[in-house]
Amino acid sequence: MEVVIKESYEQMSALGAEIVARIVRNKPRSVLGLATGSTPLGIYRELIRMHKDEGLSFFQVVTFNLDEYIGLPPEHPQSYRYFINQNLLDHINVKKENTYLPDGMAENIELACIEYEKKIEEAGGIDLQILGIGSNGHIAFNEPGSSLGSRTRIETLSEETIQNNSRFFPCRENVPRHAITMGIGTIMDARELILLANGEEKAGAVASMIEGPITAMVPATVVQLHRKTTVIVERAAAGRLSRCYPGELQVIRMNRDTK
Ligand code: GLP
Repeated sequence: MEVVIKESYEQMSALGAEIVARIVRNKPRSVLGLATGSTPLGIYRELIRMHKDEGLSFFQVVTFNLDEYIGLPPEHPQSYRYFINQNLLDHINVKKENTYLPDGMAENIELACIEYEKKIEEAGGIDLQILGIGSNGHIAFNEPGSSLGSRTRIETLSEETIQNNSRFFPCRENVPRHAITMGIGTIMDARELILLANGEEKAGAVASMIEGPITAMVPATVVQLHRKTTVIVERAAAGRLSRCYPGELQVIRMNRDTK
């Protein structure tokens, strides 16, 4: 795992976008794993700019989102399909039929989960997965206690996650209680991961993820085991790392032999 601490949200996002662009340029038929939430918005803005100003092409790219709420149709403004269209897919030249999210409206959720895994496999697996982190250490919607080997499945959202995500809804009661999420095992199968975190409210989760013991109670800690992960953290979110010294921007843990 490589941990890079950046001064600002913009710098964090710029590095994230650079990594995505590198993958897409090297392999035009890349399979990208996309995340929602406010954290990756800066990356998406920068990718849209690269597409418009520098001709970065997504024409052959295939995308898979990490998760989707159960019961929200794609046209619902709080659905993750709506979010990712609005904030990225509608503004780049990706073919919409090559963009996938779990089907939160499926009649048979279990089957939809199995099919999602199958689609990822048929696409050749995910080349680069973008991740954020919840303040309780969740990744995608894998809440504390999720099996570290889990696959795409239905998950009940924790109270903390419902509370955090209620800012996107008119009120707390409108936040769905369930979601379909790629499992931790699914995420770990991606050939490369980038995980981003900004803001003081993420500092505890970030410290556990980087310096804590690997535990299902903090699902993000599993990325310590991934063979190619870059964690990009903005200064405030790095505030509780014991090996991060204020005033110095640094790469604090490197595993160059795996890169
Ligand atoms: C949601 C998403 C996660 C995301 C997390 C943090 O729960 N399912 O993928 O990482 O929120 O969101 P934010 O980036 O808005 O802090």
